[in-house]
Amino acid sequence: MDRVVSGIRPTGFLHLGNYFGALRNFIKMQEENECFFFIADYHSLTTHPTPLDLQSNVRNILIEYIAAGLDPEKATIYVQSDVPQVCELSLLLSMNVYIGELQRVASFKEKVRRQPDNVNAGLLTYPVLMAADILLHRADKVPVGKDQEQHLEMTRDFAQRFNRIYKNEYFKLPVAYNFGSELVKIPGLDGSTKMSKSDNENSCIYLADAPEVIRKKVMKAVSDSGPTEPGQPKTQAVENLFQLMKAVSTPDTLQYFEDQYQNCAIRYGDMKKQLAADMIAFVQPVYERILELREKDDYIRKVAREGADRARESAAKTIKEVREIIGIKSF
Ligand code: ADP
Ligand code: TRP
Repeated sequence: MDRVVSGIRPTGFLHLGNYFGALRNFIKMQEENECFFFIADYHSLTTHPTPLDLQSNVRNILIEYIAAGLDPEKATIYVQSDVPQVCELSLLLSMNVYIGELQRVASFKEKVRRQPDNVNAGLLTYPVLMAADILLHRADKVPVGKDQEQHLEMTRDFAQRFNRIYKNEYFKLPVAYNFGSELVKIPGLDGSTKMSKSDNENSCIYLADAPEVIRKKVMKAVSDSGPTEPGQPKTQAVENLFQLMKAVSTPDTLQYFEDQYQNCAIRYGDMKKQLAADMIAFVQPVYERILELREKDDYIRKVAREGADRARESAAKTIKEVREIIGIKSF
């Protein structure tokens, strides 16, 4: 059985982009692999959340993971900071990581551009901690989106470097895993090409949105004044509505509105009503489980505790072996 590791930063509620781009793959992978899925709370500290926000985001994401279909009986679900061994592995790896290569990372350069007054060391060493997350469980596969490919390449570099320096093929070289043609980018409701809470909260439909909220958001989605001649290319905003429909509606429904568009007979009000209904049908079961789980504090704590126990067991084994390889022996 392959080992799979992936993490998500707790920066707010999960939206449909997170679901179709990441969570859905986790749910599939838990069936046939030994999976470790964690909430990357250490990583999220690079953006300085308040303690209250951090705490509630971690709890919300844990609840949303489970409500959407991650099964704690099948996958190990844990909070990164419950397994502090990852810090030791990160420290050990960092001794053979060069500042120059960290400064060249695209996501780091992007952060420097975006938040020039908060270029903290955690941002620079982000890829080292991420490599430690992955190597801690000696993963074979890491389900991530395209934006994380460079980080994963670095993980392989660090693993290979360790193996070479210590003349020991200890770490496997993990590969990025996505479901090929199923790799999707869910667009936003605001006409932008990516649903993203960090870019625009209003572009998002959240798994924790109530049906009325979804309906309101979809009815307000950006569209245009409609095609005036057959074969007219779609504007980005209208293309987005079709993409969203493709994600949640049946192929027949999609085809119906496609035909309407091509015949210049489309009424976006009708299309949005249908899209809202299909999104609600999709999100509502998850939304209801979220509401139930929010009341089950004991259960949530138990999942986190048991996940942490299993993750620590795997981590302790790796740390013990790595220390031996490096030559750290206690007296
Ligand atoms: P956001 O852009 O809302 O801040 P994150 O960066 O926290 O989202 O994304 C977490 C995960 O969800 C990543 O694996 C990312 O690839 C995936 N993801 C985010 N938005 C989308 C989207 N619109 N379509 C597909 N996948 C997405
Ligand atoms: N950097 C990832 C993101 O922003 C989150 C993450 C942290 C991660 N550690 C990881 C993903 C380990 C996969 C494996 O989405």
